[in-house]
Amino acid sequence: MIATADPILVCEDVTKRFGALAAVDGVSLSVRRGEIVGIGGPNGAGKTTFFDTVTGITPATGGRVLFEGAEISGLGADRICQLGIARTFQLNAAFESLTVRENVEIAAYFGRTRRSFPGFRLGSAVRREAEAALDFVGLSDRAGETVASLPVLDRKLLMIAGAVATKPAMLFLDEPVGGLNVAEIDRIMDLVRKLKEAGLTIVLIEHVMRFLVALSSRVVIMHHGKVIFEGPPAAVAEDATVVETYLGEGASRRMKSYFQGAEAGA
Ligand SMILES: Nc1ncnc2c1ncn2[C@@H]1O[C@H](COP(=O)(O)OP(=O)(O)O)[C@@H](O)[C@H]1O
Ligand SMILES: [Mg+2]
Repeated sequence: MIATADPILVCEDVTKRFGALAAVDGVSLSVRRGEIVGIGGPNGAGKTTFFDTVTGITPATGGRVLFEGAEISGLGADRICQLGIARTFQLNAAFESLTVRENVEIAAYFGRTRRSFPGFRLGSAVRREAEAALDFVGLSDRAGETVASLPVLDRKLLMIAGAVATKPAMLFLDEPVGGLNVAEIDRIMDLVRKLKEAGLTIVLIEHVMRFLVALSSRVVIMHHGKVIFEGPPAAVAEDATVVETYLGEGASRRMKSYFQGAEAGA
């Protein structure tokens, strides 16, 4: 267990088994208020499944999760979102035939307060939240467009807008720049920094190491369901196990030179 000052989230020995497979195998992690934790690791390492257990998409088979000091393990995804943990998905998740605005309004309506469908009616407060979230991510211009017509970047922004509209304290981003080009990655990077400045605590999964190390105050590398590394971004490329199981020599060299360049420029 890592001792951190004022943790907003504490995961203790979180485990998720699918039959004989321990997709998440005893993960313990504390997240401090206001930090950005970056999670990396090879495909199949259990990163998404870890997010799924914390955010209530799938129940953990062992361990527990505390948010703001209260146990949330076992709660449903809707309840966890309403308590203040929002997330995005690795694959695009949206109502394709609805507009961008309608998608974010639905998030604002259901993501903050307990609701039931009968009498579904959006009040002006919900509409304002949705507009503010669209403006925050820079999607206001496309608010009237149908989701099915959106390019990849805007779909990623839409998921973040939906998450923001639920007014979370914590945000979990699953591969927010997967499939994006360099300029688009920079745009998401700026947005993540803006989210942090707005006071959110962020946990993100990403394979794009430039993105992961530039944003994270702490990096966690998973492999076969376990945490094999936890430390500052500059130490990732120096870790022999991480280089062997995940990065490879080439990526490790590039990361080391990135940090040397950052030092020279400082
Ligand atoms: N619903 C599921 N049923 C069975 N196995 C699953 C399920 N979801 C994920 N897995 C398995 O769990 C492991 C971890 O997957 P995942 O969490 O998606 O990894 P990552 O996000 O790190 O690529 C993989 O071996 C995957 O095949
Ligand atoms: Mg994944």
